[in-house]
Amino acid sequence: MKGLILAGGLATRLRPLTWVTNKHLLPVYNKPMIFYPIMSLVKAGIKEILISSSPDHAGQFANLLKGGHEFGVKFYYSVQDNPKGGIANAIGLAKEFADEEKLAVILGDNIFNYDLKPTVEKFEKKDKGAVVFGIRMSSMESKQYGVIEISKTGKVISIEEKPEKPKSDIAQSGVYFYDNRLFDFIDRLKPSARGELEVTDLNNFYLKEGTLECQLLDWWIDAGTSHDELLRANNLVAQKIKNGEL
Ligand code: DAU
Repeated sequence: MKGLILAGGLATRLRPLTWVTNKHLLPVYNKPMIFYPIMSLVKAGIKEILISSSPDHAGQFANLLKGGHEFGVKFYYSVQDNPKGGIANAIGLAKEFADEEKLAVILGDNIFNYDLKPTVEKFEKKDKGAVVFGIRMSSMESKQYGVIEISKTGKVISIEEKPEKPKSDIAQSGVYFYDNRLFDFIDRLKPSARGELEVTDLNNFYLKEGTLECQLLDWWIDAGTSHDELLRANNLVAQKIKNGEL
């Protein structure tokens, strides 16, 4: 299985911090934000990681991360020309990199301490399907994310992108595992009302064919949604690192 970290987008919600700097290079306690998703993939045993960013910042990622030997992995870099093409657009650019392999995708502003390794090992043995990772929160908070509805037995019933009336208290995090058919599904996507190829629409292809699984994370933060969340991420991460939990 190969890894992909998305570090594009315009990060308008974090301006003026992001007028010049890419959001994923901003500090979260003692490291640049992108180190955290990288560490999650490294811990999961993934050895080849593609970093996708925007034309203005691609070189800065290469300056910072280099070939990857400091992390014990190999980094590859790609450029998403349209920084607002959408998450599924950026994932689609990883087709040649993925080759015949399955793909673990993490959004570059997502921080969590869940060990992905057991899920990677299980998923590698499967013929087909996808896994989304959810996190419980109040429905007031979850409506700013994708919202995952699951049955009592854990089956995924629906996923809706930023719904007015969330059907559950489970937000969709930015961690996704896909089989290699994802690129065919992405080719069939149409831009959403906000003009983006949505990851939620991609996940719904798997939901419809009954091959989508959901796992719950116990702790997760999307450091990129607002100045307050960035501040909260800094404080929480500092605490977790000091407690040896991250
Ligand atoms: O963080 C989890 C949420 O991420 C999910 O709950 C939503 O279902 C999903 O759509 C996404 O929501 P956002 O609208 O908040 O995503 P955002 O635009 O903040 O982009 C998330 C990351 O993806 C960010 O680190 C930048 C990167 N990105 C985004 C876009 C739109 C790209 O690399 N390229 C892009 O075109």
